[in-house]
Amino acid sequence: MDKLKVMTIFGTRPEAIKMAPLVKELEGREEIESICCVTAQHRQMLDSVLDIFQVKPQFDLDIMEASQTLSTITSKCLLGLEKVFQEVRPDLVLVHGDTSTTFAGALAAFYQQVAVGHVEAGLRTWDRYSPFPEEMNRSMVGRLAELHFCPTQANRRNLEAEGITKGLFVTGNTVIDALQTTVRKDFTFAEDALNRLDYENKDVILVTCHRRENYGQPMEDIMSALAFLAGTYDRTVEIVYPVHLSPVVQECAHRHLDGIPNVHLIPPLDVEEMHNLMARCYLVMTDSGGLQEEAPALGKPVLVLRRETERPEAVAAGTVKLAGVGYDEIIDMASALLAFPEEYDKMAHAANPYGDGRACRRIVDAILYHFGRTDRPPEPFCG
Ligand code: UD1
Ligand code: UDP
Repeated sequence: MDKLKVMTIFGTRPEAIKMAPLVKELEGREEIESICCVTAQHRQMLDSVLDIFQVKPQFDLDIMEASQTLSTITSKCLLGLEKVFQEVRPDLVLVHGDTSTTFAGALAAFYQQVAVGHVEAGLRTWDRYSPFPEEMNRSMVGRLAELHFCPTQANRRNLEAEGITKGLFVTGNTVIDALQTTVRKDFTFAEDALNRLDYENKDVILVTCHRRENYGQPMEDIMSALAFLAGTYDRTVEIVYPVHLSPVVQECAHRHLDGIPNVHLIPPLDVEEMHNLMARCYLVMTDSGGLQEEAPALGKPVLVLRRETERPEAVAAGTVKLAGVGYDEIIDMASALLAFPEEYDKMAHAANPYGDGRACRRIVDAILYHFGRTDRPPEPFCG
């Protein structure tokens, strides 16, 4: 029997981190020919992940521009992928999550009448403008896809509520698979400042912030609140903030936080450095999706710098709280955790609602089942 041709398409840092273990799983199965195509919607931040996980794409569209817009990303992906599909006709295309690459990848495959599988399917805020444009991207991919790999049972219920009832598999999130390969007790950071931080006696706060819907006043308020917290807790707090390469974020972060002695603005970390820093820090403050899944697994409390989240499972488990994007509310919520140890202790426990490290295996088993190469579907992940 011919091998199944499965093409993974991704382009940004978080997609790469969550798809790399899946590419490895696909490569390890004899029934499958794995083809990897990157759009390079991100360049440096993507290449760093490809290097760490030793993924070598067969196709690289190299689309990134310094000030790219949603339209330029989407149109360049569509045109580039059309050419790729002239060379290779896969049996299945796998896209991940909710970026512009994800949507364009699914749409390009649909135009060729190639089946689409959506990894990390079914996350919803039910607010079409938040996160923007991700909520709409993932909803549209939900319509385009035939296979839906939902991290949690709640994600599956979200799709069912939209009338999507076929091809659903609950697999866990592949980010937990990735996390299991990166965190090590004896890890040494390439950046020596991170080795020298006093993780025992200081409250090291790991910060990231990049969402488009936070551009403007929300981001101004987030950065001002961080500056206030650094000044108020200057003897006990060290803020480490690897700044996303987006020019909007770079400008805002440096304008507010440069020159504050206990704020360390550093370039994006590679994924191993990031996961190991998360494992050692005291608290995470972030608007990232991925960090909301990783930090709870490592027992680290998270304050989410957003008004809503599509990842309510860790909020229910008590390790994540929504801090919002307002100056006062962020300061109040962070101060409660910094000043009152009992408040911190309530949040600081490991929670793994997002996976058990076997998501990639389940996804590939589900693909083989869908294409009739095996009789049994995988056992679902029960968080
Ligand atoms: C994108 C995704 C977002 C995801 C985020 C992960 C969309 C619409 N947004 O947002 O869902 O959460 O990635 O980080 O798909 N840049 C570089 N080098 C890099 C990466 C980015 O210089 O390696 C700069 C470029 O100037 C680029 C800008 O960052 O134009 C913005 O990148 P873009 O992918 O458009 O948006 P993100 O905010 O990264
Ligand atoms: N990450 C990283 N280096 C950094 C910041 C983040 O490796 O400097 C990782 C992080 O651990 C997570 C992913 O990137 O796995 C999250 O990416 P991002 O926050 O850019 O996107 P989102 O998850 O919000 O879509």
